[in-house]
Amino acid sequence: RRHLLSSADLDRTQVRAILDTAAEMHGVQQREVKKLPTLRGRTVVNLFFEDSTRTRSSFEIAGKWLSADVINISGKGSSTSKGESLRDTVLTVAAMGVDALVIRHHASGAAHQVSQWVDAHVVNAGDGTHEHPTQALLDAYTMERRLGDLEGRHVVIVGDLTHSRVVRSNLITLRTLGARVTLVAPPTLMPSGIGAWAKADGFELSHDFDAVLPTADAVMMLRVQRERMSGGFFPTPREYTVGYGLTRPRLDALMTANADAVICHPGPMNRGLEISPDAADAASSLVLDQVSAGVAVRMSVLYHLLAGNDEGEVS
Ligand code: CP
Repeated sequence: RRHLLSSADLDRTQVRAILDTAAEMHGVQQREVKKLPTLRGRTVVNLFFEDSTRTRSSFEIAGKWLSADVINISGKGSSTSKGESLRDTVLTVAAMGVDALVIRHHASGAAHQVSQWVDAHVVNAGDGTHEHPTQALLDAYTMERRLGDLEGRHVVIVGDLTHSRVVRSNLITLRTLGARVTLVAPPTLMPSGIGAWAKADGFELSHDFDAVLPTADAVMMLRVQRERMSGGFFPTPREYTVGYGLTRPRLDALMTANADAVICHPGPMNRGLEISPDAADAASSLVLDQVSAGVAVRMSVLYHLLAGNDEGEVS
């Protein structure tokens, strides 16, 4: 069975194939007749143990536009609230004869674990602070459409690196596509050991957003994940915005340095904390393009997993 558990599962050829198919799917998305018969008779289950707006609904739309039957199960409202284990829940769902499980879970590694329990394709829709591979694919797709080939382009990713699964997947996919990546965060939100990782994988680190900003082709702001900060948030929200927020003056500095630069945010956004409304709604902001691309990219991922042949090629 083929799965998408980590961005590291995909080499450059496979990323390219997914992004190219997504471009075709995007064409379908923009036409009046959206449905393709490709996954007729297949069943996709969205199993979400953490809240989601974008990922769950775009996987649902993607599956339906490929004519799959799509079922949504969330942690709240399922028998997990009665104490059923993840394994029993997953085996129960799989016993109904599903073809693919799209899973979001608060535990890092959950999707990988699930893939060992079931005979279905498994897609990681976000596991704890670990990875979110379809987010990285849709981010790359969105940036490419505006910037062209990402080889050598400078992507600056700013924010709560410690709790972000988006940053890990983006780093892998962006480096796979040859982009230059700089991660920016206050020292308190940089995970330990990141220096060695940066050296090994060839990305840069900075605590100085203003120094890095003028050289960016794309600035990706990360959400401050206060729900994962049991020990409190340091620096304070005000200090964070002053040092690391994409404020109006920083938006102006970015546009002055590079009028073609773009702004991304995976959502949901904390407006006024990591990103100002001016930046979120700017002409250079790709936030809603990212959401739109999410459907096409997830159609492509489901297509490659469920309709490709056993060598991973598209049939
Ligand atoms: N970006 C993202 O994963 O958003 P949701 O939590 O709304 O799915």
